[in-house]
Amino acid sequence: MGAYADTYQRSLDDSDGFWLAAAAAIDWSRPPARALDSANAPLYRWFPDGELNTSYNALDRHVAQGRGEQTALIWDSPVTGTVTRYSYAELRDEVARFAGALRSLGVGKGDRVIIYLPMVPEAAIAMLGCARIGAVHSVVFGGFAPKELAARIEDAKPKVIVAASCGIEPTRIVEYKPIIDEALAATTHQPDKVVVLQREAARAELSARDIDWADLVPGATPADPVPVAATDPLYILYTSGTTGKPKGVVRDTGGHAVALAWSMGAVYDIQPGDVWWTASDVGWVVGHSYIVYAPLLIGATTVLYEGKPVGTPDAGAFWRVISDHGVQALFTAPTALRAIKKVDPDAAELAKYDLSKFRTLFLAGERLDPETYHWASKVLGTPVIDHWWQTETGWPIAANPRGLEPMPVKPGSATKPVPGWNVEILDQSGDPLPAGQEGAIAIKLPLPPGSLPTLWGDDARFIEAYLSRYEGYYLTGDSGYLDEDGYLFVMGRTDDVINVAGHRLSTGSMEAVLAAHPAVAECAVIGVRDQLKGQLPRGFVVLKSGVDIPEERLREELVAAVRRDIGPVAAFRDVSVVDALPKTRSGKILRKTMRGIADGRDEPVPSTIEDPGVLDALRTILRG
Ligand code: COA
Ligand code: AMP
Repeated sequence: MGAYADTYQRSLDDSDGFWLAAAAAIDWSRPPARALDSANAPLYRWFPDGELNTSYNALDRHVAQGRGEQTALIWDSPVTGTVTRYSYAELRDEVARFAGALRSLGVGKGDRVIIYLPMVPEAAIAMLGCARIGAVHSVVFGGFAPKELAARIEDAKPKVIVAASCGIEPTRIVEYKPIIDEALAATTHQPDKVVVLQREAARAELSARDIDWADLVPGATPADPVPVAATDPLYILYTSGTTGKPKGVVRDTGGHAVALAWSMGAVYDIQPGDVWWTASDVGWVVGHSYIVYAPLLIGATTVLYEGKPVGTPDAGAFWRVISDHGVQALFTAPTALRAIKKVDPDAAELAKYDLSKFRTLFLAGERLDPETYHWASKVLGTPVIDHWWQTETGWPIAANPRGLEPMPVKPGSATKPVPGWNVEILDQSGDPLPAGQEGAIAIKLPLPPGSLPTLWGDDARFIEAYLSRYEGYYLTGDSGYLDEDGYLFVMGRTDDVINVAGHRLSTGSMEAVLAAHPAVAECAVIGVRDQLKGQLPRGFVVLKSGVDIPEERLREELVAAVRRDIGPVAAFRDVSVVDALPKTRSGKILRKTMRGIADGRDEPVPSTIEDPGVLDALRTILRG
């Protein structure tokens, strides 16, 4: 057996032994004697008797081991013209001070803290500061609207919110304070304090509840790391589900540290001291796991980049960062590569930089189209590795495990299931499908360490949303197939989740916004293919009878409503008025059929369709 096959088999046959061995890479204040706790199955827990602190593992222990002077974090911010380096000792001190500041505001173990910060080092400092005192952070992406922020505040009930005065987008300054004020005007729950990091691009006016980061943090008494149970929550990260209400994915402390540290070596082949860059945002899971936690847990150097792939200042932005900091591997979403390719198809900018240290490009977050794969492989001349995972899982389910056993790449495949993940392809009735046949991608329980143990405060929703479709399995929501060599091909979501420029969004929540318009009787939103962003939302509305509104005005109002209620990141720009939506006789909207038409696939029309003629009108709109 090769290293991969052997490790994979061991991870399933003796998962306790496998993960207890992996746990040795972490420093525990009380080492776990047990790995899996099945007492409350299907709600599994990992390392039930272990105790540790994630901030200690990400910072202090590296200092103790003599890495204090090594660079832990490089903040590269072309939008502000800044590059700042923090050594492990400096980052530990900043985090300890911030943790002390939080404590001075009454934040303790188990209290929630919402972090609403752009790509500044203070985002990582705030996350690690929460972890240091056992507080549970919930980072909210800056591109969301006040309503989305409000939904997260209401669910997480934070004691404190940590925010910046603004984020910097290429075409505008996004003032955060008005967004927070609007969100808090709509929530029942109110935090005690809002800590505001003032940025020169737009300083915020502070009110009685607000406190300036600069007044609070520098003088705070540094806090030591507090041991917490391995099963205590480290963070909550809200993600889009099929309904409008976001799901609060919980991440535990011990399983997360063990799995992420293991993945850095086995999947990404990154060692202590290597320079690693994840070009994403701390508001997404990719940012949590691979900008902040994983690289620091193993003592690598992580790059935190505030900018876009192009236009900051040009299409060479990514190559400049790789060259300036000696980056060995980059992890980003395919859409970033498509954005570069669009403006610099021959990668002329790349020739200006020294990429001699660069070894691997990792891509995930959305489907990697073959064209982008081939382009990136050609211009970089390094392996380009697609891999697949989700907010819920926290780390890769399928990958080409570069540190374990690099495998030949098959374009279109996320390569093979990573050790720990027992992936099966199931048909409608839950029977495993043979190689080559597409079905629901499911993972046999228990999920490995690092994956979500539950949804915040809602075990029932966790079971209902993920564990009830196939007994004994976690439902990923993606469909795909395994080929004869065991390579996994992920084909797309089976639900209403879409991926726009690598950002996960719910068409269900967009439909809720459209449906609230007084002129709209019913509506549907589907994801359609887009050359740059992978997918874009596309809306269809049926008007209430007797309504007389110019179509252009209605469109503008609906587009503005989605931007106002969900946020600019939804990139919702396209909505058509139709006479009717395709429905079954029992009234269910045939979204899958609509998606098929949009993608040029003529799916069999369900025999239960009420009026097949409706599809002709849709074909005309979608295919021109
Ligand atoms: N705060 C506020 N607004 C934000 C934001 C943030 N953090 N991120 C995006 N937005 C806004 C953008 O300004 C844009 O607003 P506009 O409609 O006024 O122009 C809108 O949301 C859509 O953003 P986006 O889809 O990102 O489009 P873009 O044209 O700004 O950039 C890419 C396109 C491809 C360059 C960019 O999406 C990218 O770099 N993606 C990488 C993917 C990624 O990080 N994925 C995370 C998982 S790996
Ligand atoms: P998120 O939770 O934001 O990470 O989004 C997870 C979803 O993105 C998955 O369920 C997939 O639908 C999609 N996705 C992530 N990575 C890939 C990939 N490599 N190939 C295809 N789809 C992907």
